[in-house]
Amino acid sequence: MSAHLSNVWYQVTDLAVVEGNGCTVRTADGQEYLDFTSGIAVTSTGHCHPKVVAAIQAQAAKFVHSQMNCYRNPIVAQLADQLYEVTPDGIDQFFFCNSGAEATEAAVKLARQATKRPNIIVMDAAFHGRTMLTMAMTTSKTVYRAGFQPLPSGIFPTPFPTAFSWGVDEATAAQRALKQLKHVLKSQTAPDETAAIVMEPVLGEGGYIAAPQAYVEGVRDICDETGILFIADEVQSGFGRTGKMFAMDHYGVRPDILMMAKGIASGFPLAGIGARADIMAKWPVGSHGGTYGANPIGCAAALATIDVLINDGVVANAALRGEQLRSELRALQSNDIGLADVRGPGLMVATEFVDAHGEPDAARVNAIIERCYRTHNVLFMNCGTYGNILRWMPPLVVSEAEIDRAVLAFAEALGATPR
Ligand SMILES: Cc1ncc(COP(=O)(O)O)c(C=O)c1O
Repeated sequence: MSAHLSNVWYQVTDLAVVEGNGCTVRTADGQEYLDFTSGIAVTSTGHCHPKVVAAIQAQAAKFVHSQMNCYRNPIVAQLADQLYEVTPDGIDQFFFCNSGAEATEAAVKLARQATKRPNIIVMDAAFHGRTMLTMAMTTSKTVYRAGFQPLPSGIFPTPFPTAFSWGVDEATAAQRALKQLKHVLKSQTAPDETAAIVMEPVLGEGGYIAAPQAYVEGVRDICDETGILFIADEVQSGFGRTGKMFAMDHYGVRPDILMMAKGIASGFPLAGIGARADIMAKWPVGSHGGTYGANPIGCAAALATIDVLINDGVVANAALRGEQLRSELRALQSNDIGLADVRGPGLMVATEFVDAHGEPDAARVNAIIERCYRTHNVLFMNCGTYGNILRWMPPLVVSEAEIDRAVLAFAEALGATPR
C-alpha cells in the first residue's frame, strides 16, 4: 500500500477497504465481502450501525477530548451507570481506557493494590494483549513473545480445561485442570503471594473453548478460600458475543474484576474494567489513569452500542444465529473427517481441523480461508496455538441468510480442499 507503513501487522487479506455496512465491507473498486472477522470480534452491531454513527457524530460536535484528570464529562458517568445495569452482579464501579491490553494492565494493577500480593496466575493458551506485561500473560502462540524476552516476572500459567484436545469429557477436564491449579498454588506461587487468577471464560485466540461450568465454579471456590481475586477477561467474549451479555452470565459465577473492550463500542477504541466497590476503593487516587481513557465519543459509541444490543434484540439474535450456525456446521461434519470439532457459545464458534494422523491441520484451515476469500468473497480468520481452528465471529446483527451464505462458501471450500 505504502512504503511508509510498518510491515509489522500480520495480514489476513490484502484488501483495501473504504466502506463498511452491517456484515459487509466494500473496497475502493466496489467489491463487496461478507465480513465474518468483525475486525477480530469487534463490530458487534455491524459496521457503521446508524445509531452508533449518529451518537458518534452528535458527540463529536459537542466535545472530543474531556480529559478525566482535568474535568469530567457527564457522559462518562452515564456509561458507568449503564454498565452497572448490564454487567454481572457484584461489578459496581468502572475505569476506562483504550484497548484490551490496557484493560488487562489496569486489572492487574488494581489486583496488586487491592491484595498487596504480587503474583498472577493465567491460563495456558490465553491471550491478554501485546504490551510487555500482557505479553508475559499471553501463551497462545510464541510469535507474540519471540524476540521480546525477557518478559516481566510473577506470571504463572496453569492448564485451561481443553476437553477436546485432551480427549476427555468436560467433567474430567474440569477436574484435571482444577487439580493442576491447586498444584501451581502448592508448587510455584503460594496463595498469600497470589493477587489474582485471570481467565477468559471462553478462551479466544487460544481456540474458542468455553470453560466447563465445574471449572469456573472451582476457580471461584479457590478464590473465596484464599483471598485471590477472580479476574474475568471478557474482552472478546463480552457484549453479547456468546449469546448473553457476558460469558460469565452463562455460569452464574461472580468475578471480582471484569475486563471489557472490543464489542463495547462497535469499533470505537474504548475499553475498561469493572470491579466490586470495596476493591476499587483500594486503588490509590492518582496511581493509575491515562490521557485518553473515557473519551466522550467512545462513551457515546458504547452507550449507543449497548442500546442496540439490548433494545434491538441483537444479543438474542447472537444466541439464535449461533444455534443455526452450529447446527449447519454439524451437518457438514458427518461428510468431512478432517472437521473434528464444532463448538462454542453464541457467535464465538470454532471449527477445528485435524489431519490423517489426528494432528492439527493448519494448512487446510489456511486453504479454506483463502478459498472463501478469493472465490466466495467471505472473510474468515483462524485461531488456536496451532492455527488449525477456523473461527466464526460475524457481527452479532448477522442475518439467517448471511449465515447460510457463509456456511455454503465454507462447505464448497471443504470440498475443494480435501484432507
Ligand atoms: C481475550 C482478550 N484479551 C485481551 C486482548 C487484547 O486486546 P487489544 O488488542 O485491544 O489490546 C484481546 C485481543 O484480541 C483478547 O481477545
